[in-house]
Amino acid sequence: MTKLQAGIAPHGGKLINRLASEEQRQNFEAQAESLPRVQLDQRALSDLVMIAIGGFSPIEGFMGQADYEPVVTDMRLANGLPWSVPVTLSVSEAVAAPLGEGSLVRLDDETGRFVGVLELTEKYSYNKKQEAQHVYGTEEDKHPGVAVVYQQGEVNLAGPVWLLERDAHPLFPAYQIDPAASRQQFRDRGWNTVVGFQTRNPIHRAHEYIIKCALETVDGLFLHPLVGATKSDDIPADVRMRCYEIMMEHYFPQDRVILAINPSAMRYAGPREAIFHALIRKNYGCTHFIVGRDHAGVGDYYGTYDAQKIFDQFEPGELGITPMKFEHAFYCKRTEGMATSKTSPSRPEERIHLSGTKVRALLRAGELPPPEFSRPKVAAELARAMQDS
Ligand code: ADX
Repeated sequence: MTKLQAGIAPHGGKLINRLASEEQRQNFEAQAESLPRVQLDQRALSDLVMIAIGGFSPIEGFMGQADYEPVVTDMRLANGLPWSVPVTLSVSEAVAAPLGEGSLVRLDDETGRFVGVLELTEKYSYNKKQEAQHVYGTEEDKHPGVAVVYQQGEVNLAGPVWLLERDAHPLFPAYQIDPAASRQQFRDRGWNTVVGFQTRNPIHRAHEYIIKCALETVDGLFLHPLVGATKSDDIPADVRMRCYEIMMEHYFPQDRVILAINPSAMRYAGPREAIFHALIRKNYGCTHFIVGRDHAGVGDYYGTYDAQKIFDQFEPGELGITPMKFEHAFYCKRTEGMATSKTSPSRPEERIHLSGTKVRALLRAGELPPPEFSRPKVAAELARAMQDS
C-alpha cells in the first residue's frame, strides 16, 4: 500500500478558521443593534470569507500597518513569511473617526445584512500611490486594480475578524469546496500531488493544453475558477461555470479533476497576484500551481512572463508550493495540435494564438470561436449566453 502524505501544510503551518462558533454567533447577534457598523463592498466581503475559511492563512483579519507596509514594499508579512497583496479594509475618514480602537465593529454586506465582526485593533492611513506602484507596478488609474485603490477610503481598519455564517453559494453550492474540504477530498482520492489552476475565463484550448500537460505529471487537478468580483467586460461567472461543467463532462478525466469555486476577487495585479494565487491554492491543499502567459494581467501592464519570473525572488521552499510555468500556447497548423515554441518547429504564421480576450471579441461580433480556439460545445454555450444577454 502506498503511504499517503498528510498533505501540504497551509501557509504559515496552520489552516485558519475564523467562522464564529454557535455561541460566538449568538453573542454577536445579541449585540447587533448596539455595535457600530461598517459596510463591506464586494471585494472586502469576499476577503472576509477567504480569511474565515482559511484561504488566506495565516491571515486572521484585515492587515495592520506592521504587516501592510512590508507586504507592499517587500512581499513579506511582519514575521517574514511571503505575502504579495495587501488584504485591507479601507474606509473614509468620516466612517473611521467614531470607531474606537479596541472595540467590536459590526460588518454588513451591501444589502445591510450583518455578516461578520471586526475586533478593531488599529486604524491607520496609507499611501495609495505607493501601494499602486509596488503592488500593481503602475500609478495609472486606468488599471482596474489601481482604480479600486484610488476609489477606496483613506483609512485602513485592522484586526481579527469572524464570519457569522458560511452561506451556501446562491448559484454554485455544489462547487463550494472550502480549504478543509478540498484537503479532505485530495486525501480521500489518494492524491499526493495536486496542481491548482486559476482562471477567470471560459477554458479555451490553450488552457486545456497547459492543464493537461501539468496533469501528465501530478495525481490530480484542482480546477479553481475565481468567481468573486471581476471586470465588467469579463465573462460572467454563471456562464463560465456552465463551460467548466462541459469541460468536466466531455474533455477531462473526471476521476482526476475536482471543480471548485474560488470566492476571492480579481485584483489584476499580474506578478504579485500570481504569488497570491499560488499561496491561496497552497491553503486549499495544492502542491503545484500553473502559471502561464501574463497570469492575472490586464492590458499591457506586465511582460508576458513577469508572473513567472517573480517566483525567483523567493528562496526554494519559502512559498511551499511549486509553480508549473508554461510558455504561450497556440494551435500549430503544421503539427495540427496545441503546442508552444518549446515543442513546435512552426513559423509564426503557422500559429493561431488564442486568448480569452479574442474569444470575447469574436462573440461580440456574433461569430463562433473556431475549433482551434474553443471546444465546439463550449463555443456553442458561449454563443447561446451571448444571445441571451
Ligand atoms: S487569470 O487569472 O490569469 O487572468 P486566465 O483565465 O486569463 O486567468 O488564465 C488562466 C491561466 O492560464 C493563467 O495561468 C494564464 O497565464 C494561463 N494562460 C492563459 N492563456 C494562455 C496561453 N495562450 N498560453 C499559456 N498560458 C495561458
